[in-house]
Amino acid sequence: MLLELDAVTKEFPTRGGPPARIMDRVSLDVRAGEFMAVLGPSGCGKSTLLQMAAGLLPVTSGVVRVAGRPITAPPPEAVYVFQQYSRSLLPWRKVRDNVAFATEHRLGRKRAREAAEAPLEQVGLAGFGDHYPWQLSGGMQQRVAIARALAAEPALLLMDEPFSAVDALTRLDLHALVLEICTRRRLTVLLVTHDVEEAITLADRIALLTPRPTTVAEIIEVGIDRPRDPVATRELPRFLELRHALLDRLMTRHVA
Ligand SMILES: Nc1ncnc2c1ncn2[C@@H]1O[C@H](COP(=O)(O)OP(=O)(O)OP(=O)(O)O)[C@@H](O)[C@H]1O
Ligand SMILES: [Mg+2]
Repeated sequence: MLLELDAVTKEFPTRGGPPARIMDRVSLDVRAGEFMAVLGPSGCGKSTLLQMAAGLLPVTSGVVRVAGRPITAPPPEAVYVFQQYSRSLLPWRKVRDNVAFATEHRLGRKRAREAAEAPLEQVGLAGFGDHYPWQLSGGMQQRVAIARALAAEPALLLMDEPFSAVDALTRLDLHALVLEICTRRRLTVLLVTHDVEEAITLADRIALLTPRPTTVAEIIEVGIDRPRDPVATRELPRFLELRHALLDRLMTRHVA
């Protein structure tokens, strides 16, 4: 196991009252080389879960382990891609220097800038190194954030709804990109999303969360062969079957 959440519980203090328990003994194992999606309704605590997995937020009880070690701070293996790419890029740095930011503490500024070219090319942004983030479209900015994550050469990629703020076609392009890179580099990924189709398209397994206090309702094997094409995958009987079952579980139905 590369990442293990073992009976992780999270409470936040409330004004005057007892603490609010938003997560209740969540256990989750992510194997090395596996793509795991965490799927749950809005506000159920997905970002909180990922921040605890990243060592960015303390657990109330339980343990998070990376490569077998209990962690209380961000582990060197992991890189985190935030929900809001516009907040994660540094607007005063050119695209190349945003990507170099991931490695310059290790390589120094000059070598980090050189090393930024390959990941930029991988995400289809060769030639945009001298632009500023705000000169790019939303989808391109999210590509920069992904290039920066790749530049760090992480063993473990933690992504919080990284495609939710881009349009549907750009999202498909980014799905294809992530499928290709993750397969080629054998990255271990934990992706948080509320998008059922995204989870099925990308993941090997899907952890379905309940509303708060959040627990793991079920872990589902996707069982669709790789390499996957994000367009063709959508037409497979298995895709449709999973989409139906997951939407059924997630939707709150109101009978008139
Ligand atoms: N620092 C905090 N203090 C108090 N409550 C918090 C804190 N951070 C998050 N919460 C609460 O925990 C719950 C889960 O928040 P979280 O952002 O993890 O949900 P989410 O599933 O990522 O939501 P979304 O789908 O909107 O991104 C929310 O009700 C939120 O108000
Ligand atoms: Mg969130």
